[in-house]
Amino acid sequence: MKAYILRDTKGPESLKMENVEIGTLDRNEVVVKLKAASLNRRDYFITHGMYPGMKLDAILGSDGAGVIEAVGEAVKSFSVGDEVIMNPSLNWGDRDDINSEEFTVLGMPSNGTFAEYLKLPVENVYKKPAYLSWEEAAAIPLAALTAYRSLITRGQLQKDDVVLIPGIGSGVALYALQIAVAFGAKVIVTSSSEEKIAKAIELGAIAGFNYRENDWYKKLRKEFGLVNLTIDGVGGESFNRLIDLTGQGGRIVSYGATNGPVPQTVLPKVFFKNMDIRGTTMGSPREFEQMLAFFEQHKIKPILDQSFEFVDVISALQKMGEGNNFGKITIKIG
Ligand SMILES: NC(=O)c1ccc[n+]([C@@H]2O[C@H](COP(=O)([O-])OP(=O)(O)OC[C@H]3O[C@@H](n4cnc5c(N)ncnc54)[C@H](OP(=O)(O)O)[C@@H]3O)[C@@H](O)[C@H]2O)c1
Repeated sequence: MKAYILRDTKGPESLKMENVEIGTLDRNEVVVKLKAASLNRRDYFITHGMYPGMKLDAILGSDGAGVIEAVGEAVKSFSVGDEVIMNPSLNWGDRDDINSEEFTVLGMPSNGTFAEYLKLPVENVYKKPAYLSWEEAAAIPLAALTAYRSLITRGQLQKDDVVLIPGIGSGVALYALQIAVAFGAKVIVTSSSEEKIAKAIELGAIAGFNYRENDWYKKLRKEFGLVNLTIDGVGGESFNRLIDLTGQGGRIVSYGATNGPVPQTVLPKVFFKNMDIRGTTMGSPREFEQMLAFFEQHKIKPILDQSFEFVDVISALQKMGEGNNFGKITIKIG
C-alpha cells in the first residue's frame, strides 16, 4: 500500500509517500481500506518533533473512515464490506476515569490513517454513522471524543450552564460548541477572528469575544457575569483569565496547551471560588460509543474547512500550520 512515512522532523515536508507492507493480520484485528482521513494539531506537532513519546519512523493520522477489507479469524462483529470509523484511543483499559499505562493514540507509535489501508484491533472499530459522508465521518473521532469527555464526563455539563470555549478555531473547541449547544447549554466563545466568531454564533453560540483585545474578559464579565464551565485547549498566559471568569463552584476542563504552560496560577482564587481545574485526555471506548450515539441523536454534522486529495497530505498539514481554518481539514483517499 501507499502511505506517508515520517522519518525526520523538519515539518510537514518531511513526510514521504512510500510503498509499505500492511502487515500480518492477527486474530482480533481487521484491515480497513481507507476512504477518508482528517487532521489534528497532533499530526502537525509530530512533524516538528513536538509531541511526547516521539518514535520514528511513523505513519501519522489518528482519524479515518473506510470499508473493512479483511478480518482476523476471531472477529465476529464485523464482516468484509462493512463501513466503519475508528476510535483512535488504543488500549484505553477497563476504567472510564483514567487510561491504562499501555494507552497510545493511533498514528504514532502505531501506523495511522495517512495511508491506503489500516490494520488495527477490532475493538477500535465502529459502524460509520449512515447520515455522514466519508469525509464527515473521518472528521469526527479524536476531536469529538475529546470534546465529549471534556464536557460531559469531566465537565459534568448541566442544561443551564454558561460554558466558555476559548479559541473556537480549534477542532476540539468547535465540537465542544456543537455538543454543548445540542445539550441545551449557553455557549460563549473566544477567537482571534471576527469571522470565526460570526460562524460560531450561526452555530448557536450566544456571544463571542476577540481575545486579541486586552479587555475582552472584562467585556465578557460585564455582559454575562461569571461562567460555570470552561473547556480549554489553549493554556498559556490567558489561562489565568479563565480562572478570573469562573464563578463559585465552577469548573475548568483543560485538554491542551497550544500556547504552552500556564506561567502563574493564582491559587487563592481557585480555593476561594471552590472551583475545580480538571485535566482530560481523549476518552474511553464507552465514551466513544456515547459520543457517536449523541451525534446520531442530534444529527450533528462536522464542520469541514477544506478537503485535500491523498497526494496533497503535505499541503493539508501546511494549511493546518497556518491556523486560519474553521472546521476540520480532511483527506480523500482512494
Ligand atoms: N487531551 C487530549 O486528548 C487532546 C485531544 C486533542 C487535542 N489536544 C490538544 O488541544 C489543543 C487544541 O487542538 P486542536 O487540534 O483542537 O486545535 P488547534 O488547531 O491546536 O487550535 C488552535 C486554535 O487555538 C486558538 N488560540 C490560539 N491562541 C489563543 C489564545 N491566546 N486564546 C484563545 N485561543 C487561542 C486559535 O483559535 P482562533 O483561530 O479562534 O483564534 C487557534 O485556531 C492542542 O494543543 C492539542 O494538542 C488534546
